[in-house]
Amino acid sequence: MGTVILGTGSCLPRKALTNFDLEKIVDTSDEWIRTRTGIESRRIGGKGEKTYQIATAAARQALDMAGVAPEEIDLLIVGTISSHMLMPSCACFVQKEIGAVNAFAYDVNAACSGFLYGIDIADKQIRADHDFKVLVIGAETLSSRLNWRDRNTCIVFGDGAGAAVLGHSDDDGRGVIGTNHCSDGRLWQLLYMHNAPSTNPDLLVADNPGVHIVMEGREVFKYAVKAMEDSIVGLFGKTGLTMADVDLIIPHQANMRILKKVAERLEMPEEKVVLNVMNYGNTSAATIPIALDETNRAAMLRPGDTVLFCTFGGGFTWGATLISW
Ligand code: UT7
Repeated sequence: MGTVILGTGSCLPRKALTNFDLEKIVDTSDEWIRTRTGIESRRIGGKGEKTYQIATAAARQALDMAGVAPEEIDLLIVGTISSHMLMPSCACFVQKEIGAVNAFAYDVNAACSGFLYGIDIADKQIRADHDFKVLVIGAETLSSRLNWRDRNTCIVFGDGAGAAVLGHSDDDGRGVIGTNHCSDGRLWQLLYMHNAPSTNPDLLVADNPGVHIVMEGREVFKYAVKAMEDSIVGLFGKTGLTMADVDLIIPHQANMRILKKVAERLEMPEEKVVLNVMNYGNTSAATIPIALDETNRAAMLRPGDTVLFCTFGGGFTWGATLISW
């Protein structure tokens, strides 16, 4: 008995940008990108594919699968750092589009951890009120937040959206088993994105490079491996489970090498780790719900399966979640 995922959905923009396309934009090569990241292609949002629009498409699919009407949603959360407006939130735009008129809606700015933080919030709300229904979305159009002259970042990120509808189930042994989430603002300078320059001269930030992602990739890499490992070990400690109990692992898709290192250190069996980073790159808050939806639609999840999620992103933010499907 607990908080279960009732339905999932996802939406990827139509346009694919391959590594070969990137060779024409920056000084890079398909070989370098594939070897260092595992990425082969990523999607780029176009007309009609703003963050809230792909989020809406993913949300509709999730509601449809769940058999839940938009009016039944009590809370709508979007994990995003790339909404087309700063205010209102992306969540309010999605609410308007789908007609979730009874929900309150807001965004979670936790970079790549936005979706899992959203699941954590949803779980706590639903535990407090078993009638509560929550729509959690991870959606990004990071193509609009990249410096396309910076080969350290523009080859890594992509656009996409994924969604999940959560509610309470009386079924024994099903639901969120535990969560273990963390943040550390002290290392923010390794991965950040400025706002537009201030219109108040007294609040100008002198070194504001504009609204795009700045990343010390090599440093972020090191922290990502250690943080994901620690959060999973911490979650196992909290829940009394071990890797042997886990049926499927759906990690944040940042970089194939990061995932291989975490898998190696924690002795994750390779066949249990879901990977789609080669197809979509790093879509920040959207990677986990997209991978979850693809896994779900491929019927790879059976009732009672133990699913482990883990993430790491700007902030830094990171964490892990265990769900009995
Ligand atoms: O979503 C969570 C947050 N983000 C992440 O988790 C990303 C974490 N970091 C990474 O994925 C990797 O650090 C990158 C993919 C960003 C970079 O890979 P790396 O193996 O750490 O490369 P590096 O930055 O150490 O650079 C190695 C070399 C450098 O050349 P020198 O100094 O050795 O001559 C770079 O200038 O590769 C060069 N380089 C490139 N060469 C071709 C950097 N980017 C590129 C590129 N194409 N796109």
